[in-house]
Amino acid sequence: MKKTTFASAILLAGTTLTALAHGNATGIVKERMESMMVMGDAVKSVTPMMRGEIAFDADALREAARIFQAHSGTALTEKFPEGSGGKPSEAKDAVWQEWSRFTDLAEQLATYARGLEMAAGNGLLAGGGMSAGSMMGGGSMMGGGSMMGGTAGMMSAKDIGAMPADAAFNMTTQVCSACHARFRAEDD
Ligand code: HEC
Repeated sequence: MKKTTFASAILLAGTTLTALAHGNATGIVKERMESMMVMGDAVKSVTPMMRGEIAFDADALREAARIFQAHSGTALTEKFPEGSGGKPSEAKDAVWQEWSRFTDLAEQLATYARGLEMAAGNGLLAGGGMSAGSMMGGGSMMGGGSMMGGTAGMMSAKDIGAMPADAAFNMTTQVCSACHARFRAEDD
């Protein structure tokens, strides 16, 4: 399981393409796309620092965490009223068919983002080059990687807040990927 690909995917995934898709969207669909883009930009803004390419700045990470908080939970789900699927939206019908799963992921993002804000002060995992992925890989911390099963193994904000900042960041962006994998059509 690759854990670090989401941030890179966001970096590469054609801001141009999404900007084009945006062109046709109106109303609530446009609003939610913009809200998602704001989170995407926040991920982009802190990624170089999470990779150790630039100096770590806890305040910048806290700021990104607050952006995720502001756009998750009900702020996210209220932008997906029933019947707002279909082009130009990339939201799959599954959003409304599996609404509780969708809202759970939106809440999970809110919780993890609160944890991330707390974790910012912990700094990066010692050793710099060691990715948080290797830490999570064993799953020993999490009792067997239950995290991957969706929200079943959801951690508390406090648990996330106790992690190194980069590990907490990866946990948070994994929620983005988990939701997109199930609820967002990316190639139509
Ligand atoms: C609860 C589910 C869910 C979570 C959590 C979530 N997203 Fe999304 N995201 C979606 C859906 C659904 C769409 C497609 C929306 C549409 O096209 O109507 C989307 C679209 C996007 C887009 C494309 C927007 C556009 O212009 O078309 C970006 C960028 C994005 N998300 C980033 C993120 C980031 C970054 C996070 C985490 C910090 C995140 N998302 C968390 C469900 C989610």
